[in-house]
This record gives sequence, structure tokens and C-alpha cells, in this order.
Amino acid sequence: MTEILEETLSNLEKTQHDFWNVSRATGNFLNMLVKMAKCKSGLEIGTSNGYSGLWLGTAFKENGGKMSTIEFWEKRQVIAREHFKNCGVADVINPIIGPATDILAEWNEPLDFVFIDANKGQYIEFFNLVDKHLSKGGIITADNITSHPEKVAPFVDAIKNDSRYQVEILDLPAGLLVAYKISD
Ligand SMILES: C[S@@+](CC[C@H](N)C(=O)[O-])C[C@H]1O[C@@H](n2cnc3c(N)ncnc32)[C@H](O)[C@@H]1O
Repeated sequence: MTEILEETLSNLEKTQHDFWNVSRATGNFLNMLVKMAKCKSGLEIGTSNGYSGLWLGTAFKENGGKMSTIEFWEKRQVIAREHFKNCGVADVINPIIGPATDILAEWNEPLDFVFIDANKGQYIEFFNLVDKHLSKGGIITADNITSHPEKVAPFVDAIKNDSRYQVEILDLPAGLLVAYKISD
């Protein structure tokens, strides 16, 4: 990890609750997962100020891949873009401003990794919209599974009962769902 990346992550952790960022453990795990699975085409739903995007972007960069990240709060994504630039990952992260459901309705690129971390009540909609773009062997991750169980229940029930996915919920802070797409 570069000095500027470590410094930026540490600084962002001071305002973690204001920007609803994932925990450091979750960020580190997502970074490892992208590298272990050698993912090349990622999507994050919920950029905020770019904290998790930095963890993900550095992994995609190492893999020679790229990712997009969607946020409807423009002010937040402007901050995120600054962090991506300063930490040398702006070339692999495509930041998109707008409501995720609108963006995903027009989506036409294959994905091998998705991280869902936006409006909890919409997880089921995000899942239904990204599913057809996720290739066999692809991964869906989603945060706040144990911190917001009622809101995310329709998504968790749907993916757990979908025989195309192998699913586990990890005991990381807030609870991280990891799903592996076994078949199309
Ligand atoms: C939990 S925060 C994301 C934190 C970020 N993943 C991190 O760990 O650094 C959720 C973000 O998603 C945005 N958001 C929520 N619902 C959205 C939607 N439907 N479309 C686009 N952005 C959305 C919010 O404005 C907020 O900044």
C-alpha cells in the first residue's frame, strides 16, 4: 500500500460515521476478494466519499481491471473523485452520478464483481438489475446485512433461495453477504 493511500484511508476513518463508510476490515476483505478471484470488471453501488472505492480500485488496478461506482449525491462523489485521483486509481474507476436504478436499467456491460452499499430497501432492486450482467463465476457482495436485517431481507431471501448462487454472510462489522454465481 502506498503512503498516500494509507494516509487517505486513515484520514477517512476519522469521519467514517458521517459518510457511512464500510469498516477497515470490510474494505480490506473486499480488496483481498477482488485480488483472489482475479476480478476485472467491477461495480460499486454507493460511492459516498470513496472510502470503499479506494480499497476496491486498488485491487482492480493490481488485476489490470476496471470498475464503476454509482452515487446520486453529487457533492459526495466530487470528494470521492479527488481521493481516487490523489491515490492513483482514477484511471481504473469510472464514477457515475445518478440514481442507481436508472443507471442500471441502461447498463450493458458484463460484470464479474458487484458491491452493493446504497439504500438498504433497494438491495432487491439492485440485485434484480445486476444479475443478468454478472457472469458465471462472478461475485456479489453487499454490506449492512446484520446491521439492517429487516430492510435487506427481500434481497437476502431472494439470493439465498436462488440455486444459481452459493451464499454466505460473513461476521464482519455490519455483516457482509458474499454470493458466488455458480451457473447462469
Ligand atoms: C453506505 S454509503 C456508501 C459508503 C461507501 N460504499 C463506503 O464504504 O465508502 C451509501 C451511499 O449510497 C448513496 N445512495 C443511496 N441510495 C442510492 C441510490 N439509489 N442511487 C445512488 N446512490 C445511492 C448515498 O447517497 C450514500 O452516499
